[in-house]
Amino acid sequence: MKRTFRTAVLLSLGLLLSPALHAQKAARAAASSTTDEQKMQRFIDDLMSKMTLEEKIGQLNLITVGFDVTGPVVSKDVDVNIRKGLVGGVFNTYTPVAARKLQDMALKESRLHIPLMFGYDVIHGHRTIFPIPLGLSASWDMTAIERSARVAAEESAADGLHWVFSPMVDIARDPRWGRVAEGAGEDPYLGSQIARAMVRGYQGTDLSKNNTVMACLKHFALYGAAEAGRDYNTTDMSLPRMYNEYLPPYKAAIEAGVGSVMSSFNDINGIPATGNKWLLTDLLRKQWGFKGFVATDYTAIPEMINHGVGNEAQVSAMALNAGADQDMVGEVYLRNLAQNLKDGTVKQEIIDLSCRRILEGKYKLGLFQDPYRGVSEKRAKATLMKKEFLDDARDVARKSFVLLKNDKNALPLKKSGTIALVGPLATRQHDLLGNWSAAGDWKQAVSVEQGIRNVAGSGVKIVTAQGANITDDQLLIDRLNAFSGALNIDKRSSEELIQEAVKVAQGADVVVAVVGESQGMSGEAASRSDISLPGQQLELLKALKKTGKPLVVVLMNGRPLTLNWENQNADAILETWFAGTQGGNAIADVLFGAYNPSGKLTMTFPQSVGQVPLYYNHKSTGRPFNDQPLDKYKSRYLDISNEPLYPFGYGLSYTTFSYSKPELSASTMSLGGTLDVKVTVKNTGNYDGEEVAQLYLRDVAGSVSRPVRELKGFQKVMLKKGESRTLTFHLTTDDLKFYNNDLQWVAEPGAFQVFVGPNSRDTQDASFTLSNGSAAN
Ligand code: BGC
Repeated sequence: MKRTFRTAVLLSLGLLLSPALHAQKAARAAASSTTDEQKMQRFIDDLMSKMTLEEKIGQLNLITVGFDVTGPVVSKDVDVNIRKGLVGGVFNTYTPVAARKLQDMALKESRLHIPLMFGYDVIHGHRTIFPIPLGLSASWDMTAIERSARVAAEESAADGLHWVFSPMVDIARDPRWGRVAEGAGEDPYLGSQIARAMVRGYQGTDLSKNNTVMACLKHFALYGAAEAGRDYNTTDMSLPRMYNEYLPPYKAAIEAGVGSVMSSFNDINGIPATGNKWLLTDLLRKQWGFKGFVATDYTAIPEMINHGVGNEAQVSAMALNAGADQDMVGEVYLRNLAQNLKDGTVKQEIIDLSCRRILEGKYKLGLFQDPYRGVSEKRAKATLMKKEFLDDARDVARKSFVLLKNDKNALPLKKSGTIALVGPLATRQHDLLGNWSAAGDWKQAVSVEQGIRNVAGSGVKIVTAQGANITDDQLLIDRLNAFSGALNIDKRSSEELIQEAVKVAQGADVVVAVVGESQGMSGEAASRSDISLPGQQLELLKALKKTGKPLVVVLMNGRPLTLNWENQNADAILETWFAGTQGGNAIADVLFGAYNPSGKLTMTFPQSVGQVPLYYNHKSTGRPFNDQPLDKYKSRYLDISNEPLYPFGYGLSYTTFSYSKPELSASTMSLGGTLDVKVTVKNTGNYDGEEVAQLYLRDVAGSVSRPVRELKGFQKVMLKKGESRTLTFHLTTDDLKFYNNDLQWVAEPGAFQVFVGPNSRDTQDASFTLSNGSAAN
């Protein structure tokens, strides 16, 4: 019955032919010079010629439809609107059954049978959850990151989805902002590489294949620069800073062919991004050549009224004219565009253009050929959380951890003796999935306790105590539970909880304390003004320290934290972010040395929140601090040094690495020329291990002041114990370029410094000159 109907639909759209006719048509197509693009445009021209104004506006409407126990909750209006052709896309609905229910409604009951596009917040995995994006970025491993997106694509496509609201590539320098968890940290070069890897992973090379999904680059733009780290807040920034420091990852994703873009909530220099024509049309389309569609963020159009730029009718016209094609949840277009057209505040061509872009997206996804994209319960069952994906999640999670401290080889742990496993996060499954594991099932997550039991073997005795609650602030607990409902609180006094943990520790050989934030403390609308360990967790660590037992701190958190006491007093600190479904197993692999940690920080960890924003690629002042404490008129604080606690790029290993001084292939690079930088890295310790060798550049004197150093290359290499390898970094003139104050992308002749090392601080350097003329090697 369904098949018959589908056939009818496709025939009515002119898409299904008998096999013989099909073969003839294919032959004609091959013989003609019609490109795929022309074919798509002809198809859309034909379809649009049949569409009413209402139906065109309907394509610009993106709605959210939630679930009840058995399928999507479809309110009356949604039903009615889908049937009237007033819905272009749906999000928050997945599973073969639920997606089919709505797709059937659109195909069978709407006049033109235009398929719906199903989107969702697939951010770091769909059912198999990978580490949060900040953790993924700390792997510095593009293959692993691409793999995580590929697995997410396979799973979400099998679950009825076409479109994922990822990657989030907002550069973020303020750890108070909870959404730093969702991005790749502070660096535009690394962020650009990761943006490309994610787009490749989701979209593959052919979007019409039914195991790919369309990616959505977000949040365009500069959302990560919200003032004071407070979510949704204003952004005010010079154009050179935007172009050099914040825009590169968005541009990289566009160049990688991302199919869609989500406009951000914030305003940029006074104009909300969602109604910002310079941003969404001049920059995105005219300068960067973006061809896909732009969806707004959730109710971002009506929020423009709060921004203070007009009433509903005005913001409707402003957003559409700016280039926001699809209205997420606001239904402002649905209510206003027809009248806007009558009033002359929008033109028919603009509505048509936006409608065309949405239809093009659907066409590229193959939805007009197969609106169900081969989705079935059987396929979902065979795909979701299959063993191979779980293994990938475990492997990628191990790569994302950063060893922040390891005194006297406190780690790896021995597989013998007694371990006191304490801390509020040791047994938690919920938090491991992080804040954006939309379809992830926390019950499937492996807790640290379970992971340790899985990996340690029978030679280890494990004794446990909670030791503290994540927080004791009732208002915060209520707030967190209102959204994710999982923070169970031990009602005993904090003294009792700590005493119990101390007792357990006293009888053990080593203490492993799993502490940090709950997943709801980072992510959207989760800014914090104090970024230390919440609640009584630091008191717990202090009490554990007094037992004299080796203290291993395992951190779970979605942002850089201030960890001064921890850094001075713990024997080892392992940063594990929120590590996903296989988190506990991956953490245990690292704790017991089955995997040697190799992650490096992608955001600076400050000593104090008062230093924020603190980032490695800052400019120099006219009065840089020079380590002379009595020098008064220097750029410094009276009460704290300028240094971070852990710099960008930092992370230890169970082994050690030495670096040679960088050697340059020449002392001069000509404009348009190249230069090689060679450095020998040696594994000088007792374990095989991976190292991320990092290369930074400084443009010593420019037409404008330039950052003190900028990442321009990195290589992650595996070195066996005792092995050394010479790495070559190939620099081109492009690596020396930046946007000057006229926004020209230029390399300026003069002196450059090259720094190579294991992080952004501990480097050795060499110098060269960029010359105007031809190579003078
Ligand atoms: C977030 C986006 C997300 C969207 C849809 C918004 O609140 O800012 O990142 O994709 O909701 O759920």
